[in-house]
Amino acid sequence: MRNFPTRIALVVVTLLLAAQLVPVERTNPPATVEILAPSEVHAVLRRSCYDCHSNRTRWPWYARVAPASWFVTRHVRRGRSNLNLTEWPFLDGQAQQFFLGEMRKQISERTMPLDSYLLLHWGARLSDAERSLLLDWIDEEIGLLSDF
Ligand code: HEC
Repeated sequence: MRNFPTRIALVVVTLLLAAQLVPVERTNPPATVEILAPSEVHAVLRRSCYDCHSNRTRWPWYARVAPASWFVTRHVRRGRSNLNLTEWPFLDGQAQQFFLGEMRKQISERTMPLDSYLLLHWGARLSDAERSLLLDWIDEEIGLLSDF
């Protein structure tokens, strides 16, 4: 009979191996269009939001390893289903206005990007200057949309 720690280790390894067999969806649907914004605004959106809110996700290596892959794919799935910036041009003006308001809220309250993501993606942090760049652009867009 093997000793207890060895048995625990075997169980853990077996579970980890079995976990790799659970299918996860790690796809990037085609992105033929995307949100239009001045290049410096677009660069910030791309860097800080696109991984979860677009069809242009840069999948990290650990998105291939369960159980990390479950968290990553869940974030991307939920992020895209809430707000997809590569499908933005398909939204009507009213929906765009709604989501601009939601983006304003998430950015000014610093709830986006998600903290758990920022832990591993230091580069996606928003500086104060970038936050105000985004907020100014959002206000401008909301103003343009409400002129119609
Ligand atoms: C790590 C993935 C991730 C990143 C990066 C991320 N988000 Fe999110 N976002 C989510 C998830 C997941 C949800 C859904 C939250 C929920 O359902 O509780 C969400 C929800 C939102 C919503 C709410 C949509 C609605 O229906 O009202 C907005 C707006 C939003 N995010 C904006 C942003 C912006 C702007 C950025 C970049 C500055 C960003 N997010 C970066 C994962 C992410």
